[in-house]
Amino acid sequence: MCGIVGYVGKNQNSLSVLIEGLKSLEYRGYDSAGIAINNQGRIKIIKSVGNIANLERKLDKKILSNLGIGHTRWATHGKPCLKNAHPHQVGKVTLVHNGIIENYEKLKKSLQDEGYKFKTDTDTEVACALMDKIYKETNDKLLTMQKVKEMIEGSYALAIIFADDIKNLYAMRKDSPLIIALGKDENYLASDVPAILQFTDKYILLEKNEYAIINALNVKVYDNNFKEIKKQILTYEGSREVAMKNGYEHFMLKEINDEPMVIKATYEQFINKNLKELIDNMPDLAKYNNIDIVACGSAYHAGLVGKSLIEEYANIPVKVELASEYRYKKNFGNDSTLTILVSQSGETADTLAALRKAKKEKSATLGIINVVSSSIAREADNVLYTKAGAEISVATTKAYLSQVLMLALIAINKAFVNGNISSKEEKDLLEDMQKLPQEITSLINRKDEFASIAKQIYHNNDVFFIGRGIDYALSREGALKLKEISYIHAEAYAAGELKHGTISLIENKTPVIAIVTDETIAEKTISNIKEVKARGADVTFITTESLNKKYAQSDFYDRKIVVPSTNKFFQALLTIIPLQLLAYEVAKLRGENIDKPRNLAKSVTVE
Ligand code: M6R
Repeated sequence: MCGIVGYVGKNQNSLSVLIEGLKSLEYRGYDSAGIAINNQGRIKIIKSVGNIANLERKLDKKILSNLGIGHTRWATHGKPCLKNAHPHQVGKVTLVHNGIIENYEKLKKSLQDEGYKFKTDTDTEVACALMDKIYKETNDKLLTMQKVKEMIEGSYALAIIFADDIKNLYAMRKDSPLIIALGKDENYLASDVPAILQFTDKYILLEKNEYAIINALNVKVYDNNFKEIKKQILTYEGSREVAMKNGYEHFMLKEINDEPMVIKATYEQFINKNLKELIDNMPDLAKYNNIDIVACGSAYHAGLVGKSLIEEYANIPVKVELASEYRYKKNFGNDSTLTILVSQSGETADTLAALRKAKKEKSATLGIINVVSSSIAREADNVLYTKAGAEISVATTKAYLSQVLMLALIAINKAFVNGNISSKEEKDLLEDMQKLPQEITSLINRKDEFASIAKQIYHNNDVFFIGRGIDYALSREGALKLKEISYIHAEAYAAGELKHGTISLIENKTPVIAIVTDETIAEKTISNIKEVKARGADVTFITTESLNKKYAQSDFYDRKIVVPSTNKFFQALLTIIPLQLLAYEVAKLRGENIDKPRNLAKSVTVE
C-alpha cells in the first residue's frame, strides 16, 4: 500500500535511483506517483497521475540532484489525482507517507483553526502541516518527529525533507515498513528490499519508535529518548534476478514458472529423507488442542486447504478466519490454541492486528510468511518461511502455492506424530513429494492447452467454480484469480449448495468450472455437475488421472483438464496450476494489465 523510496549521495543521480526504485515498488500501488528532489538548494516536486512511466515522461533527465524522496500511491484518503499525489509540502516540510493517519480529521480541524489551509483531500497533508507547525515551535527535527509521533494515530512510514537541511533525509515509522539501505557514499530509504537491490544488498530495518537521519556518509538511528542505536546490518540473500521478469511477458507468468523451484526450496527446509526430520525442524505442535488459521485473500484460501488437510488427516479441529473479521470478534482462543497467521508480505494490516489480538488472548502464534523480517515474522512467537522469493505480480501464485505446501507439511507432521502415517505411507509420501517439482513443470508446459480453454471463456461476464471439500477451497482461489486480473465476475460455490439458490443463475452456455479431485465425494459432486449441465451450463471438468479413468464418459462436461494424481496431502498443489494459468490466459485475451490489476496493491497495509 504505497511505496516509498529515498536517496542521498555524493553522486548527482537521485532522479534515476528514485525512478528505478519506484518501478520496483509499483506492486504497492500505482494510482499516482511523485518525487521531491534537491534542485540547487531548492526542493522541486514533480507528480503525475497513473504509473511510474507517466512520471518518468514528465522528468527532465538532465536535472542533477544529490537528494530526493519518491512515492507511488494506492489511494486511501482522496481520489487518485494530481493534487492528492505525494510528496506533500507544507512550509518547511516535504514528505511522503505510506499508511493511514486515523485521527487526521481532528488534527486538520485544529490546524485549520490555527490558520493552516489545505490543498488536498489526504491525511498525509495533515501530517505534513502538523510537522511544519511543531518544527516552527521547536526548531528541533528529532523532537518534532517525536512530538508528531505522539499526536498521530494509525500506521505510517514517513520520509521527510526539511527545507533548511537539504543534506539529510529524515525517517520514522509505525506499522508500515521502512528500510534504510547502505551504499558507498550514498544511502537509501525504501518500503521494501527490491527497490534497492540494483544498488546494494545491505540494509537495516527501521523499527517503530525509532528516528533516522541519513546523509551520503552516515546513517544515524535514534530511540525515543534520542539515544543513538547501533543497528544490525542485514544482507539480502535472495537472487537479484527474482526481482526481474527474466524474459517472461508478465511477472505472473514468470512467478508461475518459479513454482517447481519454490516448492522444492520450501519442503527441503524441513524434510529430505524421513518424516522424523519434520518433527525436528518444525516448532512442536503436539501441545495444541485446536488451531485457528487467520489470513486475507489468497492466503485465507490457502488456510481453507490447510483446514481440510489438518482436520482430515491430523484429526484436530481447525477454524479458518478472515483477519478483518477475526480482529473484531470473539474467538475463544486460549493457551491450548495455536493461531497460524498466513501472509506473503508479512505486513497485511488486518493479519498483523489479528496476530496482536491472538497474543493478547494467550494463544500461541505461528507465522507462515514469505518476506523475511517483516512485521508478522518478527512479532509472531514462531515463524516458518515459505521460500517463494520476491513476488511482484499483484495476483499471488507461487506464494499461495508455498503456503498450501507449508500447511500440508503441518498436517503431515501432526498426522505422523499421532501415528496416522504407516511406514509404507511415509515412503510413498516422500516419493510423491519429490516428484512434485517435475509434475508442476509438466502442468506449466501444458500452457497452450489452458490457453485454448481460455478462448472458450474470456468473452463471458460471469463464471462459476464449483467443488466440494478441498476442491471447494481450490474453487475459491480459482475464482479470485480469475476475477482480480480479468475483471470477469467469478463466483465459487460449494457444489452441493447450488440447488439452494444459485443454480437459478445457470442458463444456456453459463461457464462452470467443476473441480473433482477428492475420490471420497467424487460421485456426489458429479451429480451436481450433471444438474448444471442439464440446465445448459458449459462445463470445464478438472479432475485427476485416477478419477479420469473411472469417469471416462463425457456426458456431463464439455472439455476436461486432467491433472496428475498424487498423494492426498499434495493434490491441491497440482490442481491449482491449471486454474492459475487459465486466469492468466483469460486476462491476456482480454488485454488487461495482468501484473497490476486496477484498484489493487500487492501489500495491503491499511485496514
Ligand atoms: O501479503 P498477504 O499474503 O498477507 O496478502 C493477503 C492478500 O491481500 C493476498 O493474498 C491477495 O488476496 C492476493 N494478492 C490475491 O492474488
